[in-house]
Amino acid sequence: MSGSFQPAPNPSIAQTQAARTPGRGHVLVIGNEKGGSGKSTTALHIAVSLMSDGAKVATLDLDARQGTLSRYLENRAAYIKRKGVDLPMPIHTPVPISTLNERSAAEADERARLEAALEPAVSAADFVIVDTPGSDTHLSRLAHTWADSLLTPLNDSFIDLDLLARVDPDTLKVVRPSIYSEAVWKQRQIRAVQGGRPVDWIVMRNRLSALAARNKRDMSTVIEALSRRIGFRVAAGLSERVIYKELFLNGLTLLDLKRGGTGPSLTLSHVAARQEVRDLVAALNLPPLATESAPTDEPAPETTPEAPSPSAEAEAQPQSESPAEDAPEMEVATEGLRRTE
Ligand SMILES: Nc1ncnc2c1ncn2[C@@H]1O[C@H](COP(=O)(O)OP(=O)(O)O)[C@@H](O)[C@H]1O
Ligand SMILES: [Mg+2]
Repeated sequence: MSGSFQPAPNPSIAQTQAARTPGRGHVLVIGNEKGGSGKSTTALHIAVSLMSDGAKVATLDLDARQGTLSRYLENRAAYIKRKGVDLPMPIHTPVPISTLNERSAAEADERARLEAALEPAVSAADFVIVDTPGSDTHLSRLAHTWADSLLTPLNDSFIDLDLLARVDPDTLKVVRPSIYSEAVWKQRQIRAVQGGRPVDWIVMRNRLSALAARNKRDMSTVIEALSRRIGFRVAAGLSERVIYKELFLNGLTLLDLKRGGTGPSLTLSHVAARQEVRDLVAALNLPPLATESAPTDEPAPETTPEAPSPSAEAEAQPQSESPAEDAPEMEVATEGLRRTE
């Protein structure tokens, strides 16, 4: 059936895993100057995935205007209280923009605010996940300089790809990288010159349709070309699924659904979706935990960040439950959600 989604080949499998600096959390910045690409949703899913594998996670919300991640976590805390369930919570800090009028004073203020939030997070947590706004702000630029890994979610559309590069409409050749790509590229050069750890930049495609559409193939071609040109890795992304929108109100992620009694019951579609999240986390190739943490109550996770660099075979495994069957199962998910209320 042409309808089933096959993940794009993933160059990340050739990468070696980043080393962990003892006593210092690995900073993962979720960055894309376009709103609505799934940064906040992805940030919480990765956070919960890492926590369910035993990692201590801190989250920062630099998108004070929208505050999606902060709201998501408020909803999660409220759900935990309301239902009396035990779900992992990250150490969360919102970092608002400066209210000072004068530009250089405001920038200094923001630098101080960011450092005040990041320093303790980096010392206390194994991973620090920084959610950024969908626009070019001073705070966001500063955060990018802290990134050990940078994850850019991209909606599967040429409108979103424009964030990364100008593309020739006839030949689909990359004409030139965008301002954002240039900025990231420069940032990596600076870090390399300063002897810092190289920034691992991963682009993931989000809201992939289950259909093998021409747009999807064209996007694959261009993203692959661009990845070689400006040096990012491509992670197999997340499919378009209604469940992502539905989980927000209860502050839940797909990773929580398998815990007995939490949220809607698992459907095959959820299992496939959860596997996509696990695959994404594995593709990030984050450094292993410093010490072995106690195992969680989860039954045999599909992948763990502690595992050595995923093999080509492991990455290339097609999913047994095709997201192509998403639509009918979403009905079940919606009912399940309502039943829990
Ligand atoms: N894979 C997905 N499938 C369906 N909806 C998604 C998916 N990822 C994100 N969304 C939805 O898209 C909207 C924007 O997501 P959000 O995480 O807030 O993006 P950003 O932080 O980049 O602005 C939200 O309504 C969210 O529920
Ligand atoms: Mg957001």
